[in-house]
Amino acid sequence: MRILSGIQPSGSLHLGNYFGMMKKMIDYQQEGELFCFIANYHAMTSLADGKALAKGTLEAAANFLALGLDPEKSTFWVQSDVQEVQELTWILSNFTPMGLLERCHSYKDKVTRGIAANHGLFAYPVLMAADILMFNSDKVPVGKDQKQHVEVTRDIAIKINNHYGEIFTLPEPDIDDDVATVPGLDGQKMSKSYGNTIDLFLPENQLRKQIMRIVTDTTPVEDPKDPDNCNVFQIYRLFLNQEEQTALRARYAAGGLSYGEVKQELFETVRTYFTPFTERRTAILEDKETLHKTLEMGAQKARYAAAKVMRKVRKKAGLAY
Ligand code: ADP
Ligand code: TRP
Repeated sequence: MRILSGIQPSGSLHLGNYFGMMKKMIDYQQEGELFCFIANYHAMTSLADGKALAKGTLEAAANFLALGLDPEKSTFWVQSDVQEVQELTWILSNFTPMGLLERCHSYKDKVTRGIAANHGLFAYPVLMAADILMFNSDKVPVGKDQKQHVEVTRDIAIKINNHYGEIFTLPEPDIDDDVATVPGLDGQKMSKSYGNTIDLFLPENQLRKQIMRIVTDTTPVEDPKDPDNCNVFQIYRLFLNQEEQTALRARYAAGGLSYGEVKQELFETVRTYFTPFTERRTAILEDKETLHKTLEMGAQKARYAAAKVMRKVRKKAGLAY
């Protein structure tokens, strides 16, 4: 089974990104053939600063590698290093009805919010379809907001397969409803835009500050507390197995546990968990030459896979004559 997903380079990462998406992708390496790329072409729809995009791209790559993506076992590349995807986008465009794109929520939402729409934003789902179809992906793990784009991909693939014969594999979106939304410091969904995150790769003092800001109620120390209504517990449980969660629940129920104490334990746990990753990330970013080589190796593997599909598509489309 081939699993493919793209991630936009988008600055710093938080526990929601890690437990909601990245860890899952990295764990997929045990189950199938993972294709994972940094979607820098897509990021251009919201980021026009070239320097920031280039820096963000390298950092996003370093994040994945530091967190356990194995570039030997998987195919890991930067989207713009495999330019065949642009040619496929054009070919797919000719099979994409305007109405299909006009119905896309993410485009409509942006237009409603008054963001001036350009062709890049409108054509975004076609580029995403090209990413997916280029590599014959079976399964595409995405967040709920991207589900419609995978459905658009299927619609386009069906149209082309009907016209030219079976060229493309129909992908399935893989949306994990079990990965409950990771709550932020205030109990709302953890999100950069809410300013309620616990970030990965932070120096110790800043990590401690973020954790100490988790909002708690005013139950006195000696009283029993409800872990299900406690933001500290809801975050802490991500790091605990079933047995450890039961033990912590018992301490909440018994009374005498201060929120400060649990926050301190959570801080130690997060620090211990991420310190090796942070060190690895720093080392990766300090050795840009190796990082570039790793990405070039990934691009070569991806180009090889892309070329096979493109030969077939170009022939069918009459572009090879
Ligand atoms: P943010 O909301 O901070 O801007 P992004 O939209 O960049 O985060 O998130 C990228 C991916 O990370 C999402 O598609 C989703 O899979 C995952 N993710 C982000 N926040 C959370 C969260 N609080 N809980 C679970 N998953 C999340
Ligand atoms: N649009 C996706 C996002 O913003 C990123 C992406 C680009 C993607 N191409 C993809 C995801 C192909 C899955 C498959 O999250």
